[in-house]
Amino acid sequence: MPVKIYHDNDADLNIVRSKTVAFIGYGNQGRAQALNLRDSDVKNIIIGNIDDDYAKQARKDGFNPVSIEEAVRQGDILMLLIPDEVQQTVWNEKVRKNVKPNSTLVVASGYNVAFNLLDLPDDMDVVMVAPRMIGAGVRDRYVQNIPYPCFVSVEKDVSGKALATCLSVTCAIGGSRGNGAVSSSCREEAGIDLFAEQAIWPEIMAVFREAYNVLHEAGFSDEAILFDMYISKEPAETFERVADEGLFKQLKHHSQTSQYGQLSTVNRYDGKELREKFQRILHDNILSGKFAEKWSNTKWAAEQLAKEWKEAEKSPLAQADERVREVLLADKKK
Ligand code: NAI
Repeated sequence: MPVKIYHDNDADLNIVRSKTVAFIGYGNQGRAQALNLRDSDVKNIIIGNIDDDYAKQARKDGFNPVSIEEAVRQGDILMLLIPDEVQQTVWNEKVRKNVKPNSTLVVASGYNVAFNLLDLPDDMDVVMVAPRMIGAGVRDRYVQNIPYPCFVSVEKDVSGKALATCLSVTCAIGGSRGNGAVSSSCREEAGIDLFAEQAIWPEIMAVFREAYNVLHEAGFSDEAILFDMYISKEPAETFERVADEGLFKQLKHHSQTSQYGQLSTVNRYDGKELREKFQRILHDNILSGKFAEKWSNTKWAAEQLAKEWKEAEKSPLAQADERVREVLLADKKK
């Protein structure tokens, strides 16, 4: 069954225009979405932010930021736009006790809702409006009237109007233009996101790391290896074509030797081991909630991340990367 796609004409903009929309956070997404809502004629926008440079930016943009607590007290619609890893703490300390009855929570990523990290009031609607786009892109595209991809979902519908609110907000930030907003869920959005981070990209990084080790051992120069692997930006170009034309179809742009090399190898690649590993990561670590539980311990998370960085920087590939870039930089300065 194809998933449901929502377009601008499925939305009633008057819903969001008739509410007070409170932003919790004025960062990448917060700023872009608040400016888009304002340009969509939403009159009652209130920015809740701690006293930092983001609050200064909000003032520069003509808003009058207040504390998170105050914004939440006024908001019919709460746009939770602070980093995922601080949402639970901020929710518990500043949001939960100030939530207005019968309000709607809008999240831009599924993580905290999918893993039940927020203590949600019984009378609260919960929806997801998740642009697949950095904040600057959400703003620029809105201004230039260019569509961008967006996932939407209704997670909790107490009022019976959660979908209508969700689509109204999506339309007001420019998320349902063009091809429309794709129906998804917090579980799906967070699951795929974490899977990409914990399964797909580490595998790609390991491929580069081991390729470097083998080629370096064979006596090839670091410069040649790194240029061929990625400094040339050839993989970036390939991925661009993958996005535009498809994973296999883009091969037509490569030489016949390259096409044969890639297809004859991948067609015989037994993915069983990788598939089993991916299944373990998806089910045992991600969907079980095990990762989210560990990652919620912010002190532990910060320590682990620092440790992993140290480990990665020690790898021969990371060191070759540094050396080659120094050589390139020195050469540029000549
Ligand atoms: P960000 O990193 O730009 O957030 C900065 C904002 O968070 C500022 O307003 C800052 O004052 C506030 N903040 C940071 N730490 C805080 C704390 N301890 N207490 C109170 N406020 C704090 O966040 P970003 O990137 O805009 O992400 C917001 C949400 O949007 C997240 O759920 C993220 O997953 C989602 N998202 C982000 C995208 C992106 O490209 N950055 C794309 C799509 C969704």
